[in-house]
Amino acid sequence: MNFSLTEEQKAVQEAARTFAQQVLLPGVIDRDREMRFPKSEIEELGQLGFLGMMVDPAYNGGGMDTLSYVLAIEEISKVDASCSVIMSVNNSLVCWGLETYGTDAHKEKYLTKLSTGEWIGAFCLSEPEAGSDATSQRTTAVDRGDHYLLNGVKNWITNGSTSSVHLVIAQTDAEKGHRGINAFIVEADAAGVQIGAKEDKLGIRASDTHSISYDNVRVPKENRIGEDGFGFKFAMKTLSGGRIGIAAQALGIAAGAYELALKYAQEREAFGKPIIKHQAIQFKLAEMATEIEAARQLVYHAAYLKDSGENYDLAGSMAKLYAADTAMKHTVEAVQIHGGYGYVKEYHVERLMRDAKITQIYEGTSEIQKLVISRSILQGVLATPVRIA
Ligand code: CAA
Repeated sequence: MNFSLTEEQKAVQEAARTFAQQVLLPGVIDRDREMRFPKSEIEELGQLGFLGMMVDPAYNGGGMDTLSYVLAIEEISKVDASCSVIMSVNNSLVCWGLETYGTDAHKEKYLTKLSTGEWIGAFCLSEPEAGSDATSQRTTAVDRGDHYLLNGVKNWITNGSTSSVHLVIAQTDAEKGHRGINAFIVEADAAGVQIGAKEDKLGIRASDTHSISYDNVRVPKENRIGEDGFGFKFAMKTLSGGRIGIAAQALGIAAGAYELALKYAQEREAFGKPIIKHQAIQFKLAEMATEIEAARQLVYHAAYLKDSGENYDLAGSMAKLYAADTAMKHTVEAVQIHGGYGYVKEYHVERLMRDAKITQIYEGTSEIQKLVISRSILQGVLATPVRIA
């Protein structure tokens, strides 16, 4: 496989790197400590075209490919994973879902604003008692002729209080199981939408995570996405692409920690020489570099399959599983290389270590990714297709 980047992809990568270093880095420690949403930073990301990267320019998007998107997420995540999850949810769950399955009217009304960042979107699938077991939706939407009446509670919603538009998954006919689930576009200021308290999290603390309750919310009939009963497949298909975004986030967190550890190892002296001259440190860096590169290949490959119009469900799950584990393992190693300095906020690696953990949990836990991969194995799909370009 040849992932030599086009000039356009290199420009996107460079723009994201510069933005991360110049705009995100200066305040990242304070935003994390204060759990402060990066409002102006997200506005700027929107102006730069990073919030609707893959959307058709006809709907104000960037018209870019998935690999460009992945490159941008990787660079942003090296510095600020709170920012990259906001970006990832808006791009791959909300914009992609609406562009792929929405009507022209949905795109005109919602996507044109979501792709510029004028509005931010949220993806509301998880519930207090339906996380991994996503078909067990307790939120209901009852057909009332020209509208649905929506009732229920969603949990762990990224962009919970900052979003203007929610894509909400709800049960419309419990007897039909997953075929009785629908997806709806709900405006955040609709009567009956209540935003719960902000979650005080281990990592990605500057991102905005809330529970949201819907109490007799009237959702116009035309705000249902797709045919009646399409909601579960909408969620699964959208999450398949979302997982590539989170895999890229995990890759960026790991690569950011590696870059910091490498720099520190070159500067810090112990026993009369820079610690990078000690084999104990060299071996850690060698392992980090190798596994991060392996994660990168999986992530780029999944993006490549998506761009090629091939099935990317399995590749996305493999990329997320491996990149998330790599992020967790090697952010811990980066802290270890920093010694005591790694344990304090000023050196950034402790934050990356805290941020890494969520990549093993959201948009499908590592166990769910293994389940998806195992099912492919059982179906006789042993590996993703190999392409030599
Ligand atoms: N694409 C399209 N259809 C799919 C699909 C996919 N990737 N995966 C499953 N389906 C379809 C199946 O084909 C099946 O349809 P048919 O019966 O018509 O064939 C239907 O969906 C049900 O599939 P399963 O029988 O496989 O369903 P299951 O109950 O066994 O669950 C699961 C499958 C993979 C475990 C799924 O529930 C899952 O992915 N769970 C994890 C949920 C998750 O990722 N949550 C993340 C929350 S969102 C978030 O974190 C966002 C954020 O804010 C950061």
